[in-house]
Amino acid sequence: MNHFLDIHKTKPDALRNIIDNARLIKNARAGRPKGALDDEQALTGHVVALIFEKPSTRTRVSFDVGVRQMGGQSMVLSGSDMQLGHGETIADTARVLSRFVDLIMIRTFDESVLHEMAEFATVPVINGLTDRTHPCQIMADVMTFEEHRGPIAGKKVVWTGDGNNVCASFLHAAAQFGFDLTFTGPVQLDPEMEFVGLARNAGVSVQIERDPIKAVDGADLVVTDTWVSMHDAQSSRERRHNMLRQYQVNDELMRHAKPDALFMHCLPAHRGEEVTSEIMDGPKSVIFDEAENRLHAQKAIMRWCLDI
Ligand code: CP
Repeated sequence: MNHFLDIHKTKPDALRNIIDNARLIKNARAGRPKGALDDEQALTGHVVALIFEKPSTRTRVSFDVGVRQMGGQSMVLSGSDMQLGHGETIADTARVLSRFVDLIMIRTFDESVLHEMAEFATVPVINGLTDRTHPCQIMADVMTFEEHRGPIAGKKVVWTGDGNNVCASFLHAAAQFGFDLTFTGPVQLDPEMEFVGLARNAGVSVQIERDPIKAVDGADLVVTDTWVSMHDAQSSRERRHNMLRQYQVNDELMRHAKPDALFMHCLPAHRGEEVTSEIMDGPKSVIFDEAENRLHAQKAIMRWCLDI
């Protein structure tokens, strides 16, 4: 059974197939109304459960629309409204849902919930974000980079700011797709060294550079994310902002990257904090392509999970 739990747990040839299929799926829909069904109704007769224990706009809508376009049916479930949020075990929830649906996507806090769901489900499980990783996002990001600039292998990606769950999945992708990654941010918010080591062991360069201007030298892609993630305490907001202010993506920083460098942000963004509006809305930004590509990439992921 093909669970899509993390990029480093999925074989490189499967990841490449997913990206290539996502491009085909996107091209096949070019110019069509969003509500139109795909020519190929791959999910006809399939039901997909989309479980959210955290807020979401992009993940929720892109999965839901993706299932519908492929002829399937989806149900969006809030963790707090399920018995899951009132003491039923994850294992029992997984076994029960598997009797009703063909595929489960879950966004949760601790990744142990995702892993327990996958262990006890008898249908594929997809990671829609945990406190530790966000693989669907980075599949869309790799697809987006390659649409604009060709193969990502050998390119230099710079992550600036908080070494959070999205950064973690970028490190996994560096290892699997063969690009170099430089992290620039305060030492207190470094990415997990386990993931840094994993990428380095795969033979790619992972650098940690405290000076953001030096870090972006030669960058093909500059990426950032919110300074206070969903799992971070709001009480840490001021401390985090003070640590991260110098890592804002702005015109001055982007001037030190390659002239054709792209800017990405998984969204939602906090304009004027981790990135300026000039960059968000400027010519280097591909943020809305990234958001759209969640749809196409996840359709390819669902098809891979179901082997259809
Ligand atoms: N980037 C992302 O996962 O967006 P949502 O939190 O809106 O799903």
